Amino acid sequence: MSAKTYSDSYNIGDPANRVDGHLKVQGKARYAGENLFDAPTLVGWILGAKVASGTLTQIDTSKAQAQEGVQAVITYQNSPDQTPFGQPEDMGRFGQSRAMLNDTRIRYAGFPIALVVADTLEQARYAARLIDYTIEPGPISLLRAPEEADVVPEDIDGGYEADAGTGDIDSALANGTRLDVHYTTPNQVSAAMEPHTSIAYYDGDTLTVHSSVQVLASAVDCLSSTFNLPAEKIRVKSPYVGGGFGSKLGLHNDAILACIGSLLLQRPVKVAMSRRQVFHNAPHRGMSHQQMALSASDDGAIHGVQHHSSMPMAKDYAFAEGTGVAARINYKANAIDSQHRVKVVDSPMIDSVRAPGDAIGSLAFESAVDELCRAINMDPVTFRRNNIAPVHPLTGADFSTNNLDRCLDEGAKAFGWEDRQYRQSGTKKNGFGVSVGMRMNIIVPSQAKITVDSKGQFTVHTDMTDIGTGTYTILTQIVAQHFGVPAHCITIDLGDSDSPASSGSGGSFGASSSGTAVLNACEALAARLSELAGLAQGNELVQFDGEQVRFGEGDTQQTHNLSELLRNAGEPAQDSLSAQGEVKPDEDHDKYAQYSCAAHFAEVSVDTVTGEVRVIRQHGAFSAGRILNHKTAGSQLKGGMVWGTSYALFEDLQQDPRDGSFVNCDFAEYHFAVNRDIGELSLDIIEEPDYKACKLGSKGIGELGITGSGAAIANAVFDATGVRVRDFPITPDKVM
Ligand code: MOS
Repeated sequence: MSAKTYSDSYNIGDPANRVDGHLKVQGKARYAGENLFDAPTLVGWILGAKVASGTLTQIDTSKAQAQEGVQAVITYQNSPDQTPFGQPEDMGRFGQSRAMLNDTRIRYAGFPIALVVADTLEQARYAARLIDYTIEPGPISLLRAPEEADVVPEDIDGGYEADAGTGDIDSALANGTRLDVHYTTPNQVSAAMEPHTSIAYYDGDTLTVHSSVQVLASAVDCLSSTFNLPAEKIRVKSPYVGGGFGSKLGLHNDAILACIGSLLLQRPVKVAMSRRQVFHNAPHRGMSHQQMALSASDDGAIHGVQHHSSMPMAKDYAFAEGTGVAARINYKANAIDSQHRVKVVDSPMIDSVRAPGDAIGSLAFESAVDELCRAINMDPVTFRRNNIAPVHPLTGADFSTNNLDRCLDEGAKAFGWEDRQYRQSGTKKNGFGVSVGMRMNIIVPSQAKITVDSKGQFTVHTDMTDIGTGTYTILTQIVAQHFGVPAHCITIDLGDSDSPASSGSGGSFGASSSGTAVLNACEALAARLSELAGLAQGNELVQFDGEQVRFGEGDTQQTHNLSELLRNAGEPAQDSLSAQGEVKPDEDHDKYAQYSCAAHFAEVSVDTVTGEVRVIRQHGAFSAGRILNHKTAGSQLKGGMVWGTSYALFEDLQQDPRDGSFVNCDFAEYHFAVNRDIGELSLDIIEEPDYKACKLGSKGIGELGITGSGAAIANAVFDATGVRVRDFPITPDKVM
């Protein structure tokens, strides 16, 4: 994209407007489904199985094939050769084969059994209805009770052990006031605004895929694994993504099926999931049972924390979410016992949804902690404040930084916790809640390349994505500040797998990982320019002023002409100069416990007759190292807070126990918080750069907002009504 902006205020931290904003509002930012190849694009429509398990015993596509405009009806009988699903094992779940239409086994409800490719969507969709097939249904395994989950998952997403703990839990729980509670959270979806969409074109040599995906390097691996094509013959592009929230970390059925269509027909084929199809053809978050036992002394010291989680795991797909992570990190305790068990089920793919582990783990755990405060009659802010862990509760590692105390103190003050006023008007009562969140910070290996031309125009190439989070903007800010240039001199080129590989977007690691790689590329370029100017080693201050380059400050300052410097760069003369930067997790990442943290406060009003909960206000106090852009960071945090309301009160993906399918597959029936559901939303950021986290000093914020926000709402509902709902979401029927 070519980024043109007209503000000079693009230093790191500035609340700068998105550099891609103008393209988006003009419809000029092309999303996956809007790209065109030279050849006309065919359209594929997915025919999905109606049951969750079984064998396809008969399929007759002749009628469909005979329809006007139909170019191919693809089933397991005529699809191109593919590596079996999930192979090779050592490629990780996003790099493994995601083969489709490869055998007769039905893996989940909605599982694609045919792809109709036609000239138009209507033709394909109509023809799909004429396919006659028989499925011999198999038994359907779902998680119906927590004790059915008896499999120890190999590892928990995020690299956690299934079981972890410290101290003697039995004696810790025998001591003081003990609470035993069982919480459940429902199936949930990411509900990204842009449904999963891909256009693939195999021209006989190279497979090019425009897809809505968060991470490109593993997407190339996945296509290479699936279709046995060399990675150099595959190019994936994803410059604009309309939200992902984990559901686009890997490629999904749309991408694989579009490739299948194109490999067969050697024409561009587009597969765009309908909203309803997204629910079955893209991953969701599995429901959870969270059995907890907590104990504390009367003066408010936590003795024991036991958290046993039971969740479904999709058949053939080894992903387990770490719902116990909040119990492992939020507070110090004499003993902690965290355990995860799963049951293999016939559900559509279960994978990351925003803040896997943290989001629903904190929802249940921070609600239970509130119950414990009530049981010992202690103020929930004071209680949390008193139990903040000075070091990592399990490993004993020091925190790189941890400002949870300040988040609680300053958040409580800004919210007016001490002066909260209770009101009753008619049947409505208000209530207040608090909770905290601790979100792990990670760095994922990333590379970037920066080029400057003789006019002083910079271009950054990295396969990083911007999933709506502001990547284009923060990377612009990093370059702008480093070289003292205005934003309009900088072009950030993202979302092309031909560019140097980055972390991609996910796990709240994107900004720090890709940003540090870009910073390192800037430093390498500065060093190279210094060398060309005949100056000593790099890391000097190198500032651009149009075509003039200034080296150093004060008395030793020198100015050189950029074109002349580039002429010195080699034979033949160059008109641009490039440098690469990269980042990898370093030893500080093993040595220190790295977390960003949050304190959430909420006020709700509950109608005690109808059970209706209205959120009056939410306040969040956050600490996530140095903030790269206060505007985009604030927007992400607010989004997470909104999501907290959504998880506490609305979201609930219902699974039909008879056939394993999801029932409420649209936004009319899968409720999430909309503007009208949200009250006053405010936040404070306690900013302290964390240079142990990365050279930029930033830590992840993407998933911080949702971590803990839901429990503050739930705790406020209890405060208003005395009703503790342990089965999320808190719908009116449960409050009444
Ligand atoms: Mo992350 S689960 O990719 O929002």
